[in-house]
Amino acid sequence: MTLALGLMSGTSADGVSLALIELQGRSLRVRAHDTLPYSGGLRRRILAAPGMKAAGLCELNFELGRVFSAAAVRFLRRRGVKASSLAAVGSHGQTILHLPRARVPSTLQLGEPSFLAEALGVPVVSDFRPRDMAAGGEGAPLVPFFDDYVFGGGAPVVLQNIGGIGNASLVGRGLEAFGFDTGPGNCLMDLAVRRMSGGRLAFDRDGRIARRGRVREDLARSLLRQPFFRRPPPKSLERTEFGEAYLAKHFRKLADADAVATLTFFTALTIADAYRRFLFPRAEVREAVVSGGGALNPVLMGHLRRLLAPLPVRTSAEHGLPVMAKESAMIALLAALAVQGRTNHCFRATGARGPRVLGKITPGR
Ligand SMILES: Nc1ncnc2c1ncn2[C@@H]1O[C@H](COP(=O)(O)OP(=O)(O)O)[C@@H](O)[C@H]1O
Ligand SMILES: [Mg+2]
Repeated sequence: MTLALGLMSGTSADGVSLALIELQGRSLRVRAHDTLPYSGGLRRRILAAPGMKAAGLCELNFELGRVFSAAAVRFLRRRGVKASSLAAVGSHGQTILHLPRARVPSTLQLGEPSFLAEALGVPVVSDFRPRDMAAGGEGAPLVPFFDDYVFGGGAPVVLQNIGGIGNASLVGRGLEAFGFDTGPGNCLMDLAVRRMSGGRLAFDRDGRIARRGRVREDLARSLLRQPFFRRPPPKSLERTEFGEAYLAKHFRKLADADAVATLTFFTALTIADAYRRFLFPRAEVREAVVSGGGALNPVLMGHLRRLLAPLPVRTSAEHGLPVMAKESAMIALLAALAVQGRTNHCFRATGARGPRVLGKITPGR
């Protein structure tokens, strides 16, 4: 049996999620998981990081490294797990920028891994995306490898993660696993909520604001005409494509709750539309399995169920993977394989030239 710890902090900058996984042959089980929210100050600095000068980034890299290390130490101590029992620790790092289609394609995840290696004394695998990009890929999404590993032996299913960005994988027996970014996940809703609350609220907890607003379906449908949604996979979203400027351009005129309601519907619509265009023609999909913070938003899930009916829409928790633990479990798996020199890469999802071992290893003791 192999134990590995994974740390994930996505574009939402809500905090760091940790998962302890147990691997036995091909079977993977999440033994424990947790999400530690970032302080308001750290969150604001992360969100401002794309505009920072080198001194600010230099500091943030080390600060995040310490935050991740402290989170891992506390997580293991609370559960009575000895660090020395871990085969590997995976740390995705905090995404600051991801620009796969810029003139010089690049991506930047911060959180110096040396602090984890120093505190835990076991190998730490970090920085998974650059190798994929060096091999011609877009550096995202990484999760189709995990989805294939866990769900690839059964009937065809779609795995949908709704973090800051949305991404989908299609896996199943006899299928070549693949996946792509479906578009914005929670990022637009989060931005609108932050804007309307003057920064007091970070997201629309339980869809309470969206429930009060009116959905402008015509607006949502017209936004689907944007080129990103039509472009066939492999594709990953530039993290700057759906930001403040986008929101200001298309949603300035809507009353606040209506904007949140419409963005919630729009997010579900981009997902359903992507399935119709790119997934349903490839396979007889049996079920959609949703994970990430978006799975905790009942209004978003309601739209998704209506738009995808009669396809059953469930959460990953119903398959034993808590919705906030799936991506950190994915990073734990990638790390466990990387230290064994085994591929941890679905190159068809990113457009890379072939399978690679992703991640850089910081040795333990
Ligand atoms: N109870 C909830 N109700 C509605 N949305 C939620 C809830 N909990 C989390 N979220 C959403 O999920 C996001 C975090 O999801 P996560 O999967 O961690 O994304 P990322 O991988 O980008 O960090 C939050 O920013 C918020 O939009
Ligand atoms: Mg998160």
